[in-house]
Amino acid sequence: MKILIVGSGGREHAIGKALKRSCSENKLSFLPGNGGTLEIGENIEININDIDSIVDYSRLENIELVVIGPEQPLVDGLANKLRKYGIPVFGPNSEAAIIEGEKSFSKSLMKKYKIPTADYEVFHKSEYQKAINYLEKSVYPLVIKADGLAAGKGVVICNSFEEAKRELIEYFQHAKFGVAGEKIIIEEFLEGEEVSIFALTDGKKYYILPSSQDHKKLLDNDEGPNTGGMGAYSPSRIITQDLISKIENRIIIPTLKAMETENRLFSGCLYCGLIIDKNEPKVIEFNARFGDPETESVLSLIEGRFDKLLLSIALGEIDYSEIQVKNEVAINVVIVSEGYPNTYKKGKEISIIDKLSENVDLFHMGTKWDNGKLVTSGGRVLSLNATAPNLELATKTAYENVSKIQFEGMFYRTDIAAKAIKK
Ligand code: AMP
Ligand code: GLY
Repeated sequence: MKILIVGSGGREHAIGKALKRSCSENKLSFLPGNGGTLEIGENIEININDIDSIVDYSRLENIELVVIGPEQPLVDGLANKLRKYGIPVFGPNSEAAIIEGEKSFSKSLMKKYKIPTADYEVFHKSEYQKAINYLEKSVYPLVIKADGLAAGKGVVICNSFEEAKRELIEYFQHAKFGVAGEKIIIEEFLEGEEVSIFALTDGKKYYILPSSQDHKKLLDNDEGPNTGGMGAYSPSRIITQDLISKIENRIIIPTLKAMETENRLFSGCLYCGLIIDKNEPKVIEFNARFGDPETESVLSLIEGRFDKLLLSIALGEIDYSEIQVKNEVAINVVIVSEGYPNTYKKGKEISIIDKLSENVDLFHMGTKWDNGKLVTSGGRVLSLNATAPNLELATKTAYENVSKIQFEGMFYRTDIAAKAIKK
């Protein structure tokens, strides 16, 4: 099958590897891809926001399946346009991707259909005084979120009224997130442990991939600023069968039904970002796509015909009969450029000084080839994933192999999955 994967991160590299593993005859194109995706397919130099050119390319090349990685093209309607031309696509139409694209939409959906989430209020920029009055009466900490897409950075946790007021001014008066922050959600702070659940769905039926836990803070012990994700492990140690049933019955099933009722059938990967407190799940966010870096670990546990699973969803009726899940665990450590998530240097040569172990995969996030040399080209550079029968061994293997990688200014967290091991 000829498959086009849209995106350039570790997630897309991992999706590509899983598709190739399902059937070695699959022919992959990545748009635009990275230094690693070149090992398993070709890279197409088209901007991911150029919907018309992507559709033209897919038609011209007789692409049989398009898998869309990032949120922006989904929200902008890439899937709609591909579907219009009869090209099978894995990823929701814009009407359904709004579940990630507008937090005020997903919050009101959850309220209307009684899906457990944090209490909240929405304020527009024109309601500055009303928002201040609300903040004066609020309990702290609380959370302020930009309504629109902000590359995972549009969320701040405020510990006092003064801090919240300062943030409000940043969003409304200094346009910290541009249009995405003209509307904000002020939300109750939820205590608990975060888990990511990916439900692959044709809009009605679904298949849940192994659970995972991301590490969003830059530094060890969950300190420092939020990032796109510094590492993950799968499956989560706190997820039990009882919890999965609660998540299905209270969150996944009602959300899919709600989306269908609202004429926004959701087809693709429904990413449920959850907080679990005392064995009770609540939604902190929905995303309309696979998570990065969780996908690198989650898909390393999947065997069988992942390609058929994604194609069946694209064709409208999910078939997961040829999927098996390895009875192992996976952990990935994200290696970033010094300065990330703020400014960082690019073009640093990457060396791999020793052969990586057999149960290790190196997913590229921000790399490219430059005159025969592999160099850094992004903040998050590599995601090194290891699988093993237990988390202790997987973690040990991952870190032993991370030490075989070198580039100037490389940085990573040293405590991915450490809390889970201590439990
Ligand atoms: P989001 O982009 O909505 O996933 O938020 C980014 C991060 O902020 C989440 O991964 C959480 O760590 C944190 N966060 C978001 N909402 C809440 C909340 N209501 N309570 C506690 N932490 C939150
Ligand atoms: N790992 C978080 C995300 O993909 O949104």
